[in-house]
Amino acid sequence: MHILLIGSGGREHAMAWKLAQSHEVSRISVAPGNPGMLHDAKITQVPLEVSDIDGLRNFALTQDVHLTVVGPEAPLVAGIVDDFSAHDLRIFGPHKAAARLEGSKAFAKDFMARNNIPTAAYDTFTELDAAQAFIEKHGAPIVIKADGLAAGKGVVVAQDKQEALTAVESMLGGQFGEASAQLVIEEFLAGEEASFIAVVSGRDCLALASSQDHKARDEGDTGPNTGGMGAYSPAPVVTDAVHTHVMKDIVQPTINALADEGMPFTGFLYVGLMIDKQGQARVVEYNVRLGDPETQPLMMRLQSDLLPLLDHAVDGSLPEASIEWREGSAIGIVMAAGEYPAGSSHGKPISGIEDAESGQCKVFHAGTRLVDQQLVTAGGRVLCVTATGDSLAQAKQRAELGAACIFWEGCRYRRDIGHRAL
Ligand code: AMP
Ligand code: GLY
Repeated sequence: MHILLIGSGGREHAMAWKLAQSHEVSRISVAPGNPGMLHDAKITQVPLEVSDIDGLRNFALTQDVHLTVVGPEAPLVAGIVDDFSAHDLRIFGPHKAAARLEGSKAFAKDFMARNNIPTAAYDTFTELDAAQAFIEKHGAPIVIKADGLAAGKGVVVAQDKQEALTAVESMLGGQFGEASAQLVIEEFLAGEEASFIAVVSGRDCLALASSQDHKARDEGDTGPNTGGMGAYSPAPVVTDAVHTHVMKDIVQPTINALADEGMPFTGFLYVGLMIDKQGQARVVEYNVRLGDPETQPLMMRLQSDLLPLLDHAVDGSLPEASIEWREGSAIGIVMAAGEYPAGSSHGKPISGIEDAESGQCKVFHAGTRLVDQQLVTAGGRVLCVTATGDSLAQAKQRAELGAACIFWEGCRYRRDIGHRAL
């Protein structure tokens, strides 16, 4: 079977790598993909951008594609699933209406409020005066969020009032264009974060293993927020009791409410959680796709075939699917440009990946490019070095040995991924 996978990051490399292991899969076309994927004979890159819905649909229509799988959020929010469905093409991901859970934070908060799904208290704003008055009234710490997609940069956790006031002024002043014309301002939640991802098909769902990512750039979870500097699975904070509570009080009510409100969800539902000391979880954000970099360690741990899971979800037979995980842990350490997250690296030769992989690592590419057969940097997050182990400590040691083999001018990575679980 021929699979079309949309995206080009580390998440998509890990998904392609896993799908290629399926006996049912003969060919995977990744649009636009990255050169790391080409080591697998089943995988080819297709020069179509993730925003080119016409091009992607015409490819699927003419190339006998069995299933299209969407990696990133932007095409989902733009309505690629609605378009493909209108052409009777099988595609894994939510329709545009449900993708607003990620595409608009105000939509997501209002959805949670009317469906009693636990989350931080909030209000929404389009006017500076009202936003300033709200901050004056509630004080800090307080959290300011741009309503729309801002590549993970639209959230400011303000530790003092001045920082909050500066953030609302610049966001409402057009910092993220349309995406910050509306703001959500919400209560600061204390606790430990975890990523809880489920495969969803209408009112049915199957949880993936728990994971946790590190959003801050620097060690000790300090420095600016990024898309994610590393992740591991499982996340011990998600105990059996927390898992049961999250399924019962958050995931199932979310997908039931989506179905009740006429926007049934198919795809990966990612619930970003804040879990307090009593084990009570609240929703920090919804994403309508897999996490990056959570996917890289998750795919390393996933023992069963990925394709039947996606096929069952698309066909409405998810209760027939099952999922098996390897015991032990997996970790992914992101190697990023020194300039990241403010900037990125371009054209710097990368060395040492073969050495890293001759050990016990798998290196997933994100921001890389081939120029005259030389692999060079082409982005902010460049690689994700992953490894499994009997314990998180062992997985971490293996991944760090791998990362130490790899070099380009200006590369950086955190040496403390997983510290909360160690
Ligand atoms: P988001 O894009 O909504 O996930 O926010 C990015 C990051 O900001 C989250 O992963 C949290 O670390 C932090 N954050 C967001 N909302 C809150 C909140 N209400 N309280 C504390 N931290 C938050
Ligand atoms: N790692 C967080 C995200 O994918 O949104």
